[in-house]
Amino acid sequence: MITVDQSPASTYDPQHDAAWWRQAVVYQIYPRSFADSNGDGLGDIPGITSRIDHLAELGIDAVWLSPFYPSELADGGYDVADYRNVDPRLGTLRDFDDLVKTLHNRGIRVIVDIVPNHTSDQHEWFQEALQAGRGSEARDRYIFREGTGPDGAEPPSDWRSIFGGSAWERVDDGQWYLHHFAVEQPDLNWDNREVRDDFVSTLRFWSDRGVDGFRIDVAHMLTKDLTEPLPTHAELQSIPQDGHHPTLDRDDVHHVYAEWRAVFNSYEPPRTAVAEAWVDRERVPLYASPESLGQAFNFELLQADFDPEQFRRIVTDNLDLAARSGSSSTWVLSNHDVTRHATRYGLPRPTRDDDGHSTVKHGTEWVLAGGPAEMIDLAGGARRARAATLFLLGLPGSAYLYQGEELGLQEVADIPDNARQDPTFFRGGGTDGLGRDGCRVPLPWKESGESFGFGSAGAHLPQPAWFAGYAVAREEKDPTSSLTMYRRALALRRSLQSSERLEWIETGDPEVLRFRRPNGWEVVTNFGAGEYPLDRADIVISSGPVRLGEVAGETTVWLAPPEE
Ligand code: NOJ
Repeated sequence: MITVDQSPASTYDPQHDAAWWRQAVVYQIYPRSFADSNGDGLGDIPGITSRIDHLAELGIDAVWLSPFYPSELADGGYDVADYRNVDPRLGTLRDFDDLVKTLHNRGIRVIVDIVPNHTSDQHEWFQEALQAGRGSEARDRYIFREGTGPDGAEPPSDWRSIFGGSAWERVDDGQWYLHHFAVEQPDLNWDNREVRDDFVSTLRFWSDRGVDGFRIDVAHMLTKDLTEPLPTHAELQSIPQDGHHPTLDRDDVHHVYAEWRAVFNSYEPPRTAVAEAWVDRERVPLYASPESLGQAFNFELLQADFDPEQFRRIVTDNLDLAARSGSSSTWVLSNHDVTRHATRYGLPRPTRDDDGHSTVKHGTEWVLAGGPAEMIDLAGGARRARAATLFLLGLPGSAYLYQGEELGLQEVADIPDNARQDPTFFRGGGTDGLGRDGCRVPLPWKESGESFGFGSAGAHLPQPAWFAGYAVAREEKDPTSSLTMYRRALALRRSLQSSERLEWIETGDPEVLRFRRPNGWEVVTNFGAGEYPLDRADIVISSGPVRLGEVAGETTVWLAPPEE
């Protein structure tokens, strides 16, 4: 008989357990859309504190807070105007300290987002750079260049921004600055010593306030070799990413992280970091090594179909990669940048376009972004999402969950264009998918009332009527809900947790994956439509209705380890 540990996550003890992150369940909070404490339509820090019971009852080990810093919100807060403060609309530093204390008291650790590739154009450094003019020290913190063509009226190169349009923007005195993302996100110059020192101060600032770890935004883009003549955009695409590419995944970025590592290790326990690094998989261990950031995201499940072959390959490869770096693996199905997985898995396969996006329109008609009108299978998507989640939660390594996925929330795609906020939607001219707002709509806490309990007024992105069906208050009462499954799975995971290994058990059925952890905990996922006969009856959790002697189609079950 398995006893489910319902106690909160292991009691927080800053002096011990330096390896807490290795198999942690980390819950990503997008602060502006979590809970609004003051009725201004924007989620805030006290709102998160007020929902501590939800976080503790869910049974997570840590929260990762997406940026809550002062920002003009040109990119949902990833345009940071001041790295060592809280946006006044979201609270104060004192509110932040309260939140950290409240989370720590409930055994939950705190990870904050560091955005080092670019600042906001409202950052005092950028404003100073605009004032100070060409050749100034202030401009050297960014990447300014003269233009080409008559009067320098053409950009220094034809590079494209990741969000669409040119990667260069001209300022009043005629120079151009580089921005790999939105115009309002000028890239920093990581050859500049002051830039490096300032981020060290930022890491210390938050570490001193009790933050346990950091998520590093586009960790593979900081350092650049902009020796002239600059390559063309087409040339950039064909230069191998072997550590010497002009703008991506350069070996020298690890000099930056070696300095950061010294900072992390000067704390007890050492602060942790996880890299958002979109790099060739063979190069991931460089970021995940203990000399560098220590862990790196693996986004492969988030890009995969609900497919046994893809899942098995991804798991095997990533466990191998993690072992090579001495780190643990990370698993993600949803985050603030992609279509929620309950919706993704309801789309006709393949479930994503070349950019990894698969936004859809909600309603009776569902439309694949930039593609043909298709019907989406909502119930199937939800069923597959639950099965994929239980599969993920059984894997060795850390699991990253995104707010709302515990409710089985679907993507919101029918946001009117004039209510959208995501720069990828606008810079793509609306032709390149619907952007990322659909997974950032404020959470429904109650079935009715103003903004479904998100706050006392409206929500900054419109919530659809069908959100009522996913409200926390409703799901809490429903033993078959997604929330009930997540809570039980996380509690069980704590009781069942085993060392970081996995052994595949051959099932003889290409649609069924089965693996065993070293203590005998087994996970069986049936990706197919038919039943898979089960030789054991000790199912401790199932993503769908439990059936004795079989695993139903598109269902995951966990089997108990043998009695001691
Ligand atoms: C990655 C973040 O996840 C995304 O939301 C952001 O737009 C870009 N980095 C730029 O900071």
